[in-house]
Amino acid sequence: MTNTTATAWAKSDWRAKPRVQMPVYPDANALQAVEAQLSKYPPLVFAGEARRLKKQLAAAARGDAFLLQGGDCAESFAEFSADNIRDTFKVMLQMAMVLTYGAKVPVIKVGRVAGQFAKPRSAPTEMVNGVEMDSYKGDIINDIAATPEARIPDPSRMLQAYTQAAASLNLLRAFSTGGFADIHRVHSWTLGFTDHDDAEKYRDMANRIQDSLDFMAAAGLSGETNHELSTVDFYTSHEALLLEYEEALCRVDSTTGKWLAGSGHMIWIGDRTRQPDGAHVEFCRGVQNPIGLKCGPTTTEDDLKVLMAKLNPDNEAGRLTLIARFGAGKVGDHLPRLIRTVEAEGAKVLWSCDPMHGNVIKSSTGYKTRPFDAILREVQEFFAIHRAEGTVPGGVHFEMTGRDVTECTGGIRAVSDEDLSSRYHTACDPRLNASQSLELAFLVAEELQQSRAALRAAV
Ligand code: PEP
Ligand code: CO
Repeated sequence: MTNTTATAWAKSDWRAKPRVQMPVYPDANALQAVEAQLSKYPPLVFAGEARRLKKQLAAAARGDAFLLQGGDCAESFAEFSADNIRDTFKVMLQMAMVLTYGAKVPVIKVGRVAGQFAKPRSAPTEMVNGVEMDSYKGDIINDIAATPEARIPDPSRMLQAYTQAAASLNLLRAFSTGGFADIHRVHSWTLGFTDHDDAEKYRDMANRIQDSLDFMAAAGLSGETNHELSTVDFYTSHEALLLEYEEALCRVDSTTGKWLAGSGHMIWIGDRTRQPDGAHVEFCRGVQNPIGLKCGPTTTEDDLKVLMAKLNPDNEAGRLTLIARFGAGKVGDHLPRLIRTVEAEGAKVLWSCDPMHGNVIKSSTGYKTRPFDAILREVQEFFAIHRAEGTVPGGVHFEMTGRDVTECTGGIRAVSDEDLSSRYHTACDPRLNASQSLELAFLVAEELQQSRAALRAAV
C-alpha cells in the first residue's frame, strides 16, 4: 500500500477542507442549534453492529458471502410509511433468498434506508417555468416543491430526518428479529406476484425451500427454534453527503475508543464527492464504519490509490467497498484498469456493482428512466470482467422499492415509455419495482453461480 500511517483526525476536521454538493444554510444560528441538539441524541446504530457488518463484508471480499445493498434513491418525508418499509424489506428478503438458494452463498442485506436523504445534484440551481431556484437536494436539506422559498436549505429538516430514520430502523429491527423474517414464512413473502413468470419461479423456489425445511424438521433439526433460520441481520446505509448531520451523530465507541458514524451501519462516498483532499473523504476516513466508495468513469488509478490509502490505511478487510458504476457498455473501459490497480497495491476491497447510476436516460415521454436491459447488461459485464481477471464480484447495489412503481422501463412486465407516467413516485432517480428487482435477483444468481464455479475451478 502507498501509505500505512493513519494521521490524527477529529470529527470536525472536514470543515477545513474544500466541500462540494453541500448546502449553504442562510441562518447559521439555526444550523448550530440543530447540530447542538442532534449531538445530544442517541446514535442510531452501535459500534458492535458496524464491526459485525465489517466482518461479513470481509467474507464477501473473499468470495464467501455476497452483498445485496438496495433501497430508495432518496427517502422522502411524504412517502414515509410502515407499508413502504415493509415492502422494501420483503423484496430484499426475497432477493436474498433467490441469491442464497441459487448461488449457495450467504447474503448480507444492507438497505439504502434510515438515513438516505441527501442528494448530490448535477447543477446547484434549476429553472422551473422561467423561475430560477436551488435544485432539490433531498428532504433532509430542502423541499421538493418547485418554488424558490421551498428550496431554501432548512436545518430543522435534519431533526425530522433523524426521527424518520430512528422510526424506520426501529421497524426494521422488529421485522428482522420479531418473526417476520422467519424463513418458515417464505411462502407468505409473495407480495402481488401471482400471475407472472417471475412469481412462478419464485413460488417454485419457495416450495423447494419448504421441502428442505420439512426434511430438516423430520430429521429432528427443527428450525422453529433456530435463531439462524428465524431472524436476519439487516443493516442500514446511506451516502454521507450532509456532513453537519454526520458529524453531529458521530460518537466514540466505548469498547475501542474509536469514532463511529452513528447515523447508519455503512456510509458511502458518492461519485461527485470523492475528491481525495475534499471534505467527504476527510470525514469518512476517521470513522470505523464500513465505507463505500463509488467509482465512475472519471475515477483515475492514481486517485484510487490515494483514496484506498486514506480510507483504509491498515488494509483492513471489510472496511472498503468499491462500488463500480460505469454504465452498460463502459464497464470494460474502466473496471479492468481499476481492478489491476487494486491488485497491484495488494489492497483488500470488496467489489460491488451499481448498475443504476451509469444508465439514466430521458424517455421519449420526458421521464428520467433506466432501461432494465441496460441495468442487466452492466451487471453481466461486471461479472464477466471479474471472471476474466480472476477476482471476486462481491455484491450489487440497486435503487429499488417493494412497491409496484413504473420508473424503470422493461422487465418481464415490460414497462414502456408510455407507462412511466402511471406510477412514477420517486423523489429522485428511477427505481426498480418489486417485480423487476426479483427478476434481476434471479439473473444475478445465475451470474454469481458461474463466477463462483470459475473461482473454485481456478484454485
Ligand atoms: C446514489 O447512489 O444515489 C448516487 C447519487 O450515486 P453516484 O454517487 O454513484 O452518482
Ligand atoms: Co440515485
